[in-house]
Amino acid sequence: MPYENIIVTIEDSIGLIQLNRPKVLNALNAAVMRELGQAFDEFEANDAVRCIVIYGNERAFSAGADIDAMKTATPVEMLQRDWVAQWDRPRRMKKPVIAAVSGYALGGGCELAMACDIIIASETAQFGQPEINIGVIPGAGGTQRLPRAIGKARAMEMILTGKFMKADEAERRGLVARVVPVESYLEEAKALAREIASKPPIAVQFAKECVNKVYELPLGEGLEYERRHFYFLFSTEDQREGMEAFLAKRKPQWKGK
Ligand code: HXC
Repeated sequence: MPYENIIVTIEDSIGLIQLNRPKVLNALNAAVMRELGQAFDEFEANDAVRCIVIYGNERAFSAGADIDAMKTATPVEMLQRDWVAQWDRPRRMKKPVIAAVSGYALGGGCELAMACDIIIASETAQFGQPEINIGVIPGAGGTQRLPRAIGKARAMEMILTGKFMKADEAERRGLVARVVPVESYLEEAKALAREIASKPPIAVQFAKECVNKVYELPLGEGLEYERRHFYFLFSTEDQREGMEAFLAKRKPQWKGK
């Protein structure tokens, strides 16, 4: 499928999506979000793809929703286009999605990264929700995901002032899994994706689902949700294979069944 605003490739078992509007720091408009949705659909349907990495370029992961494209929009147009719903797509993917962030991840860019399962940041990464400076608020998850990731006080400060957070603090506060040198941030993200891709796929899918439920369920229900998924895995061939291989001291061969 031809894409104009993103570059979509497959490397081994990893699906790669590069945001590709460098002149506007990968600002996200309706066309980018539509193409992103198509790429996610394509990867979800392709059994050869086990993990996805989304990235921008060294200067910017994405500086947010395209301000030029939004500036004259009416509420009804926003509602009818409902392009903001696409931001939640990485979370809704069965397969894990890693955001490899270098440079700016602002506004909708920060929200897109936070909708992914893991963020790997280069040491030049900067995160922020500067919407307040253009007369709006975060609209694609920022007010919900940022406090959950870094705590209410610091998230509130960032959202009310629009100030950015640097990579080292983002790591300290748990927004990103790891900060790595800018020269290798993409390779590190790909290496992590390859490692995840080498694990049993159904267990990976369930693990992602269960961890994400932490934001939605009270503890008792979350524990039950986890337990039922754990039990269900005993119906898979990969559970037998994993445990037998461990006891036979050999490498497991996953079937995804
Ligand atoms: C459209 C953008 C853009 C954006 C940058 N550009 N961010 N265009 N939408 N979000 C464009 C600039 O207009 C400029 O175009 C070019 O990219 C380079 O940007 P500069 O500002 O010249 O670069 P620099 O001085 O290095 O500053 C970088 C920056 C700044 C700090 C990231 O661009 C900035 O503040 N951008 C806006 C960040 C922001 O407010 N994001 C939130 C958007 S609202 P020209 O043509 O002049 O070269 C949002 C809401 C999401 O995301 C809610 C769900 C939809």
